[in-house]
Parts: sequence; C-alpha cells; structure tokens
Amino acid sequence: MLSLDPMDIISSTSWFSNIEPSLQKTLASKMIREDVEDGHVFFWEGTAIDSIIIIESGRLIRSKAVDREKFSLSAVMEQGGESSLSSSLSAPFQKELFKKNSVDLDEISGKGRVTGMLRVINEEHSRSYATLRSVGRSVVWRIPADDFINILSSDAGFAMMMLRKVAHKMKAGSKSLKSMLKNSQKTFRRGPSSSLEDEDNDAKGRDTISSPSRKAPVRVLCYDTTQWVKSAFEPAVQAFNKLHSSFNIEMKFTNDRLSEQSAMYAAGYDAVCLFVNDSANANALRILSMLGVRFIAMRCAGFDRVDTKSAKAHGLTVARVPAYSPYAVAEHAISLLMSINRKIPAASTRVKMANFTLDNSLLGMDIHGKTVGIMGTGKIGQILCKILNGFGANLICYDIFESDEVKNLGAEYVSRDYIYEEADIIFLMMPLLPTTKHTINTDAVSKMKDGVLLVNTARGGLIDTKALILGLQSGKIGGVGLDVLENEADYFFQDWSAKSIEDPELTSLLGNNRVVLTAHQAFFTKEAVSKIVDTTLDNIKMWKNDGLEGLAHPNNCLPSTMV
Ligand SMILES: NC(=O)c1ccc[n+]([C@@H]2O[C@H](COP(=O)([O-])OP(=O)(O)OC[C@H]3O[C@@H](n4cnc5c(N)ncnc54)[C@H](O)[C@@H]3O)[C@@H](O)[C@H]2O)c1
Repeated sequence: MLSLDPMDIISSTSWFSNIEPSLQKTLASKMIREDVEDGHVFFWEGTAIDSIIIIESGRLIRSKAVDREKFSLSAVMEQGGESSLSSSLSAPFQKELFKKNSVDLDEISGKGRVTGMLRVINEEHSRSYATLRSVGRSVVWRIPADDFINILSSDAGFAMMMLRKVAHKMKAGSKSLKSMLKNSQKTFRRGPSSSLEDEDNDAKGRDTISSPSRKAPVRVLCYDTTQWVKSAFEPAVQAFNKLHSSFNIEMKFTNDRLSEQSAMYAAGYDAVCLFVNDSANANALRILSMLGVRFIAMRCAGFDRVDTKSAKAHGLTVARVPAYSPYAVAEHAISLLMSINRKIPAASTRVKMANFTLDNSLLGMDIHGKTVGIMGTGKIGQILCKILNGFGANLICYDIFESDEVKNLGAEYVSRDYIYEEADIIFLMMPLLPTTKHTINTDAVSKMKDGVLLVNTARGGLIDTKALILGLQSGKIGGVGLDVLENEADYFFQDWSAKSIEDPELTSLLGNNRVVLTAHQAFFTKEAVSKIVDTTLDNIKMWKNDGLEGLAHPNNCLPSTMV
C-alpha cells in the first residue's frame, strides 16, 4: 500500500499542524509506519500505552471489556489468540472474541486523527482505558512515548502549546466539569450549620433534598421525575437518613429522562435513579461512567431499556426492585380485562350523560368457564392465575419454566400456538427480551380465536402494534386492554392534552372503543410505591455502604455471562 510522507501526516493533525517546521521534522523523524490487518490490536485495555498513534487511513475501534477475565491479554492467548501483543488476531477469532466479551465505545477514523496523546502525556495514567483495534486494514504512524516526552521536554514552547491544546480538549467537557464543580462547591459550602434550606436549586426542573447531617452523602440524581416520584422519595430519604447514622443519601430530581444528552446532568453524582422509560443505552452509560457515576438504581422491575452488557463493561452496578407488588399489576390486568369485557368506560360515559339504556354494544361475557391463556407465569403471572382460578376460568399457560404452584391450580402448560388457537382471553406477563419482542405479531393474531380479548401489562414491545391494529380492524381481536405500548416513551408520563399526537398508531388505538389504555400505571398502588421507594434506597445502601457491587448486589440485573 502506498503511504504518505510522515510530514504530510504531521501537518494533517490538529495537534501538530501549527508547530514549528523544525519540530515537525523532529517528530516526523521518530514516526514509525504500521500497515496492519483487520483485527490488529494496538493496545489491550489496562496495558501501558507505549506510543501515540496517528491514523493515516482506516478505522480504529475502542472496546471495553465486559468480562475482564475472558478479555485480558493472557486470557486471549490461552483461548488461542496470537502470542505477540502487536500481532493481528485471526478475523473469525477476533470477531467472536470482541462480540462476546466487549462493547464498542467509539470509532476513530480519518487522516490525521491522533489517539493515546493524553495518556502518554499523563504518565501516571498511561494505561489504556479500552482496547484499541483495527477494523479492516489500517495504516497508522506511531511516535514512541519516550521519544515524544524527550521532544516535549527539550522545547518549552512546544510543551506550552501541547498544554494549551490539552486544556482546549478538556474544555470540550466543560459543561460536565462546571456542573461537577458546582456540585462539589455545594458540598464544601455545606458547613456544620448549614441546612436543607441553604441549598440553592439547580437549573429549571431540578430540585434537591438532602439531610441536614454532616456526613458525606452518596449523591443520587433521579431522572424522569413526575409528581408521585418526588412526593414519595422526599420524605422517604429524610426518614432513611435519620434512621441510618453512618449512611446518608442526597437525592436530586430532574424532570428530564435519561438520554445521551441529559446524561451530562449526572456530573458530580455517584448514582442515578431511573424509571421504565429512561434510555440507558451504550452511549448514555459511557457518559455516566466517564462522569464518575457508578450505580444505577432502577425504581422498577423491568430493565429492558438498560444496556446491561455495556453497564457491566463500564463497571456500573445496576440494581432494580425485583418485586414490589405483583398484586398491583395482576389486579390491574384484571381491571383492564373487565373494562374491555364489560365495556365499563362506554357504560360509565353513557350513564353520566343520564342515558340509562342497555344495548348490545354493552354486552359482555362471563369469565367463568372461559379458556384463559397466560403467557409468562412469573411473580405477576402466578397471582393472575390465582385470581382467574377464583373466576372459575380454565387456565392454559406458556412459560420457559413451569411453575408447580400454577400447575397445582389445575393449569396446564401448553405451546404458544395452542394458546392462540384455544384461548378466549390472552394475558401477556413475560419480560421484553430480544426473544420475546413482537411475540404477538400478524402470524400469532391470525391463529387466534375470533373475538379474542388481549391484555398486556408487561411491556409494549411484546406486541407488534401494527398487527394489533389490523387484528382489531378485522374483528379478529374483540378487545384489548393495554397498560404498556411499544412507543410509550414518547408520550407516557406527560400531559399531551393540549398538544396533537403525531403517532398514527397511538391515535388509532385512542379512537377505538374496543381498546382500553392506561399509561403504565399497573404498578401504581400505595403498597407498591412504598416498596419501590424502600427497596431503591436499600439498594443504594447495599451498594455504597455494604460494598455489594456488580453481581454481588442481590438485586443486580447484570448479565452473569456475556455469551
Ligand atoms: N405495567 C407495569 O406497571 C408493570 C409493573 C411491574 C412489572 N411489569 C412487567 O411485567 C412483566 C412480568 O413481571 P414479573 O414480575 O412477573 O416478572 P418475573 O420475572 O417474575 O416473571 C417473568 C416470567 O416470564 C417468563 N419468561 C421469560 N422468557 C419467556 C419467554 N420467552 N416466553 C414465555 N415466558 C418467558 C419467565 O420464565 C418468568 O416466569 C415484566 O415484563 C415486567 O417488566 C409491568
């Protein structure tokens, strides 16, 4: 492969393009060209960075280990990788290795892009934060760290220029630094006599609660704060801090959801508290981790919006509230069923308008004697089975694990298709996973009994909404009770009454009188909220105070293996 002259490369970098030509020449004289194959590893995570790398062409990817034991250099060698750090791993081996054991953080590509500079300058932290590898063939130039430091030391003007550039790079993160500074100043300012009232409120939409105690608190930022969240957590945190003399939580609230943009708010916090629609994707988690956040307290059971693999790679502990009140959700599922079956919303509206007549539009059916399919017989599904047993329904269930408790009720475990073909009513009670996404799709709907009633309180993504709407329009589906929706994150927990709804699927469902929709409120009972708050605070304490990190945390939802 034809390569450029080192001087061309030097002048194409933002770091060295403006330095004295004589210095450029000195640097160029130290540059070593490398033409590498797909999969070549430049640095393994945690190993010393021995050179600055300047890209001439190609794509470099930085990946972080998910399972360090399987991803260290020695482990790779044991698994059959090449023995030399500078060699390329064979393409299939590399692909499998990275896919199973790491997450990609970012890509560095383009002529003149430089990597390794900050680590080389900061000798104390010269170990690589991530593994850097080539995807496809790349041509790079290395400047050995020792040579670079020697040149830097020999020229004060060059050193100053590098310092200014480093400062400029760091300014790019100034928003987070400012926020961090602000938070730390508050901590310092909070002297022995200061109290809750001394705290200034943050930017719009953010307020603070803390304890008047002098103990250094664990700082938690609570995202997606709606009215109930604040009113439930505020007094609970105060009470919790009074109860625990050696441990203190300081919780702040933001109305915003976690996203790649709002992740910056967490600068200066130890932990974040998230709910069902916060998006903890790989990028948001990377930002949280870089800001120093180490714990994610889910104030819910589901964690399908958390990229747990990335979280693990970044050393974040993620804990959830595994069970708060399965009764709350199961009972709400029954409310939805009875609402669609007995047409309660229409009946109530009619009566409120002083129309006390009956006609066939209000005609329902007995649940007694009907065949009910329950897909997912975990905590909530089991309670639901008991309630439905009380109705005198015939229960047929589908789950990847069978429950003896459910079988003792006389329920039978059957295939999914059997449920579609035989059930008059179907409840979805399983988690949203890649394998369960769109369980209810056009094919499933086509197998169902005419007029089947469907209830979903689990996760919206279990149903292909388009297939559902078609099923409703064709009459195949007689009615549907939903507490969750595939695209609920755009609308739920917000007041849209004065705005127009752009989502045609949501509009279609809202306009259909055979649909009863609630906005993710199945969990919302006094008992469940109290359990959510208590478990969330305990989860934070177990992590920070009792040192239960990662998989050691009893309520963690991290993957135990990364395969
Ligand atoms: N709407 C709400 O307010 C609300 C509140 C709490 C929970 N939920 C949701 O309800 C669902 C169930 O909660 P839970 O506490 O009973 O969970 P759980 O973990 O106790 O039970 C889930 C069950 O689903 C089964 N399952 C897993 N994969 C499956 C598959 N491919 N096919 C069939 N079954 C499968 C599991 O074996 C388990 O028995 C979760 O998705 C949760 O997120 C919703």
